[in-house]
Amino acid sequence: MIGQWFQGKPFASKTVFITGGGSGINFGIAQAFSSLGANVAICGRTRSRLEEAAAKLREAGSRVSVSVADVRDYAAIEKALAASEAELGPVDTLVCGAAGNFVALAGALSSNGFKTVLDIDLLGSFNAARAAFAQLRTTKGSILFVSSGHADAAFIGQSHVAAAKAGVEALMRNLALEWGPFGIRSNSIVPGPVENTEGMERLISASSRETWDAMVPLGRMARIEEIAAMAIFLASPLASYVNGAQMTVDGGMAVTGPGLFNATLAVAMMQADAA
Ligand code: COA
Repeated sequence: MIGQWFQGKPFASKTVFITGGGSGINFGIAQAFSSLGANVAICGRTRSRLEEAAAKLREAGSRVSVSVADVRDYAAIEKALAASEAELGPVDTLVCGAAGNFVALAGALSSNGFKTVLDIDLLGSFNAARAAFAQLRTTKGSILFVSSGHADAAFIGQSHVAAAKAGVEALMRNLALEWGPFGIRSNSIVPGPVENTEGMERLISASSRETWDAMVPLGRMARIEEIAAMAIFLASPLASYVNGAQMTVDGGMAVTGPGLFNATLAVAMMQADAA
């Protein structure tokens, strides 16, 4: 779809670094940039998953850099960004996409469970942005944070994700302020429910696909490429004056809110309690 709207390869000679780029929305973003000519660096925890993703990106004609790195480990992400710079040149667009999620009620969640999601989503985003700062200064590049509606609305079983994503939004705004003077733009993408993603599968298994479709005024979940399209826009010169913005791509779900999901889960919890 994305290729139909562009002529040629507008991201040729540009480098995009994507944390968590081996799967899900992040891999979809990688494919979209690749289809428009970008060099793509991906990092994640599982080498086999990254190599499989890299093979597909290379097939599409991209130069690809692969690093095994956990975003919670600053030294590892710093090394991954150095490797990407050596192979592909300094990063023009950094996508902070690595995230972790599971459904757990706050009253049953361990302190370490809460911390784990904060560490992956929030600390991991800071680590990637901080490690890429010098490169982004040279390219006057931009950062895209993959956020979520959890930052603004409460979903049952998602207190850890909500806290993490609210932090990501705050980080995005502060970097827009502090790094804007260097020509570095920071923005976030707020996807609604997206089909064929691991995080969504976990939420669907706690409720139902119909519940999610019903909460979206457009009546369906997003396709991954519909989220990637926003990443392409934000990274392009079309968005040269967009900085500190939270770009919602949710089919209108923020208008209705997560009430149906919460009600469905509340009933399920009461039934489980009664059993
Ligand atoms: N319910 C409650 N607590 C959970 C949990 C669940 N479903 N899954 C993990 N935890 C807790 C663990 O019990 C542990 O806490 P403890 O030490 O007090 O027992 C803590 O979280 C860390 O778990 P661990 O499995 O060691 O973490 P990890 O770093 O290996 O994995 C996760 C990270 C937990 C996010 C894991 O779900 C994961 O790797 N997911 C893959 C990526 C993903 O979530 N993708 C979707 C993106 S939206």
